[in-house]
Parts: sequence; C-alpha cells; structure tokens
Amino acid sequence: MIQTRNIPISLPHTGEEEWLAIREPLMSGWLTQGPKVAAFERAFAERHQVKHALATTSCTTALHLILAALGVGPGDEVIVPAFTWVATANAVLYCGAKPVFVDVDRTTFNIDVSRVASKITSKTKAIIPVHLFGLCADMDALAAATPGIPLIEDAACAAGSAYKGRPAGGLGLAGAFSFHPRKSITTGEGGMVTTDDDALAEKMNSLRNHGASISEEQRHHGPKPYIMADFGHLGYNYRMTDLQGAVGLVQLTKLDRFIDERQRWAEFYHRELREVTWLRAPLVPTGYRHGWQAYVTWVDENEAPMTRNQVMERLQALGVSTRPGTHAVHMQGHYRRQFGYRPEDFPGAMRCDRYSMAIPLHNRMTAEDFQYVVDAIKAI
Ligand SMILES: Cc1ncc(COP(=O)(O)O)c(C=O)c1O
Repeated sequence: MIQTRNIPISLPHTGEEEWLAIREPLMSGWLTQGPKVAAFERAFAERHQVKHALATTSCTTALHLILAALGVGPGDEVIVPAFTWVATANAVLYCGAKPVFVDVDRTTFNIDVSRVASKITSKTKAIIPVHLFGLCADMDALAAATPGIPLIEDAACAAGSAYKGRPAGGLGLAGAFSFHPRKSITTGEGGMVTTDDDALAEKMNSLRNHGASISEEQRHHGPKPYIMADFGHLGYNYRMTDLQGAVGLVQLTKLDRFIDERQRWAEFYHRELREVTWLRAPLVPTGYRHGWQAYVTWVDENEAPMTRNQVMERLQALGVSTRPGTHAVHMQGHYRRQFGYRPEDFPGAMRCDRYSMAIPLHNRMTAEDFQYVVDAIKAI
C-alpha cells in the first residue's frame, strides 16, 4: 500500500459558526463567566436531563470541584478504575485523599463492578466510575454493589452517551464532563459538572468562584456597588470564559449529529474489520448508547502477525494515526513512587495499557478516509 493520506486520530469539528459565536462576547467586553456560559449550562442541563450544570475550566477541575464540595479530604478514600486518564485519580490526590484502584473489565474497558465491594472500607467517601471512550459504566450494578456510597461519574468522554435510556451525567450523585479537543464537542479546554442535588450545586457554584457568596454578575450588575462577596470557604477559580461558553453553545447543537455519524462509522468498522481476527472491536452491551469519543480496539498478539506496537508503527507509516486507548494509572511514575505499585497489581489495566489501540474516528473524516483505514489494517 502506498501512503496517500495522513489521518489524525482525532480532529475537532469547529469552523465558521464557532468563529461567529465568539464575536458577541468579544464585542461586549464581558469575557469571563457570564451570559454565554449561563446559556451553555442551561442547554447542557436540558440535553443531559439534569437540574444543574455548572461549567468549569476542565473535567479535571470539575472532578476536583465535586470532591471538594463533598468534603473529601485527608484520611478519606475514593475508588477509581486503574485504567483511565491520570486526571481521575489526580483529582482525589488534590483533596489529600487516597485513590483506591479497582481493576477494569477488558471487554468494556470500564470498572469491573464485581471487584468494587471488596475495596470498600469505613474511609470510602465516593466511587468514580469512568464512562471510558463514551461507553457508560454499569451504573445500576455498581449502585447495587455499593449502597449508600456516592457515585461520581467521570463522564469526560461521555457527552451525549446514555445508559438504559438515561443520559450520562444524571446517573450518579454528580458527573464531570470534558470539552478538550479530543472529545466529541469542544470549547478548547473546558468542563462541566452536573447534578440533581440543589445543595451540592450551590456549594460547587461558590467553590468554583473562590468560595464567594455572590457571583461576579451580581456584584457588578447589581444596584449596590459597595457589595463585596464574603469568602466563607477556601475556593478556586475554575470559571469557564464566556468565549468558551459561546463556542460550547454552538458545539452542543451539533452533539447528536456528531454521535450519530460516529455511530454509523463505528458500525462500518465493525462490519469491515470483522474478518481481521487478531483485532477485537469495541463491545457495546445492549441498552447502551455509546458516545464514540474514541473507537478503541484490542490487538490480540497471539493471533496478530506482529506486536501491538509494531502494528501501530506500520499504520503510522501508512498515514493512519493510532494511540493506546489510555493508560494504566498505577503504572505512572507518580503512583509507582507514592504507592509502590507494580504493573501486575491490576492485570486487566496493565493488559489494556499494552494491547488497546484507538483507530481514527472523528467528524472530519471522509468516507474515503474510513475506507483507507480499513484497507491499511487489512494490509498488515
Ligand atoms: C476519563 C478522563 N477523565 C478525565 C479527563 C480530564 O479531562 P480534561 O482534559 O478536560 O481535564 C480526561 C481527558 O482526557 C479523561 O479521558
């Protein structure tokens, strides 16, 4: 095969409409969290069927905000899957608490629910199931296995995903989304917390604005210019800008189209790659709406003509970008040093780290691009 293309693993789908959308905040001079963020939050809450959505600077800060609002602190434990982006566990460390890893199910890449109950102690304050690559964790099974413990969804990859007909973000006590450019919809950087809990939303609203008792808008647009907020809690500046809010509003109107397109191309990959016996397609259990943030396959090195890394190099040489799905967090330097983990401590996560392979799936790809990826894989 001769290289005729260069297909990135992911490309954000932004353009003229997003460009026009940032004009209004730029011209108005209100650049930080304001009316555009408020409108984005309302639209996001409606789409994900939750009472409250609060925009943040990232999913990482969204996760931290939720944990901080729940009062998670030193001496506490929070359960997280061992195969996820490092930020899921880092957010726990920011609170001075301990992330307690649970291995993942290699067929879904999500937390292995059967292993969670044995990790619960009197110190467990929350569990963060991750909806990895856009496939929801089995939330009902998890809730049944861990009664009374708050479930916080790491929905970084799951805007628009659903589980048994219910959108991600409303499946636990709170959810955290990402709008990083590798996600289906983007605001450059950015995140969102979601919850149906009024008191938690109020606390998070204050904590993302330095712990202030009133918002910037109330302060600057109200009739009493001498009013200053009281800072009753140690908070953070996790506010999204109105430029990002304006982009997010436009992107959100495209979310379902993006996912439908990705779903169709995921089906194309399933069909066309079925004969490649060394490559396992991602599993979608019945009752789930996969958000297809990424199409993550599994290279079976017992059957493949070469190792996963050699497959990735060969595809790269053919102009097809691939990436490991994500990484095993317990194998990262900081976690190895702080907790003394060995790769075999979580064998499922270790194997996902070694054998998973995301292939390109995004909304800027053409039919020819998808066919090219299939042909390149079949040529191995
Ligand atoms: C599962 C998961 N959690 C958290 C994050 C962090 O998101 P952000 O980059 O918005 O902080 C990511 C980002 O890739 C992720 O994939």
